[in-house]
Amino acid sequence: MLNTVAPEDTALRVALWRALHVEVDPLPHVLEDVIGLELAAPADTWRQRPDMNPEVMARIRATIVARARLTDDLVREQAELGVDQYVLLGAGIDTFAQRRPEIASRMRIFEVDQTGPQEWKRRRLIELGYGVPEHLTLVPVDFETQSWWDRLVAYGFDPTRPAVVASLGVTMYLTAEANADTFRQAAELAPGSTFATTFTLPLKLVEEVEQPGRANTERMARAAGNAFISFYSPDEIVSLALDSGFAAAWHVSADELAEHYFSGRTDGLCPSSSEQILIATV
Ligand SMILES: C[S@@+](CC[C@H](N)C(=O)[O-])C[C@H]1O[C@@H](n2cnc3c(N)ncnc32)[C@H](O)[C@@H]1O
Repeated sequence: MLNTVAPEDTALRVALWRALHVEVDPLPHVLEDVIGLELAAPADTWRQRPDMNPEVMARIRATIVARARLTDDLVREQAELGVDQYVLLGAGIDTFAQRRPEIASRMRIFEVDQTGPQEWKRRRLIELGYGVPEHLTLVPVDFETQSWWDRLVAYGFDPTRPAVVASLGVTMYLTAEANADTFRQAAELAPGSTFATTFTLPLKLVEEVEQPGRANTERMARAAGNAFISFYSPDEIVSLALDSGFAAAWHVSADELAEHYFSGRTDGLCPSSSEQILIATV
């Protein structure tokens, strides 16, 4: 992974997909997030990037907005129950803190990511006037070589109080060992905590109609130096969570996301089967 002071490619792409959803998909929007686009400030030609093709990438775009929406909803629900710590592992250009100030300002939010991209984000937040308020802490970590837990605690996370910990779009880029470490560590969160993570299916479990596109995405990711290296079936990821010590763990399928967030649409937009979600509780 690059560590220069610039947005990380994979984080930039998903931020652009969230903005594209607002620009090209009819109402109702699953998520309204154009702040990532504002932070990234790409060249005016960004919509011409091959990965921004609205038709070809529709289902991936739907997955990206659905996972962010589901996490927004989870954090809102847990905040209402009194949980006041939210940790984003591999936060990238996530904009919850800026989009949902009414919830964010009542919580302590910890965005964990690589040093360079995080410095870039800090600079952009300040340049655009969002700033880095007291309730938002940026925690620089390399998951492959450092303990995100130790770093979080050093930056003020209280491990004795419950938290929501979300890891969206990260597991496929990390080794199985790094993912297993993250699961084991997250299972040590205080009772009442919730862990939400996306995972990528092995190609053969992806819907047949999506397999060529997914194989192409993998080829492009490898060529860009961000190869997908870890894949899980729903059963494997649920077992990993339970074996790691979580009290309960369940899979949120693409079909469930479709039913929950996309039913009744007339444009046919629905999430990809390639990436799915696990939720686990402590
Ligand atoms: C696809 S982006 C997802 C960003 C964000 N979660 C979202 O959904 O918009 C993956 C993120 O994981 C971070 N990441 C990847 N490998 C990492 C590592 N070894 N240590 C820390 N962060 C890492 C990248 O910097 C990037 O921000």
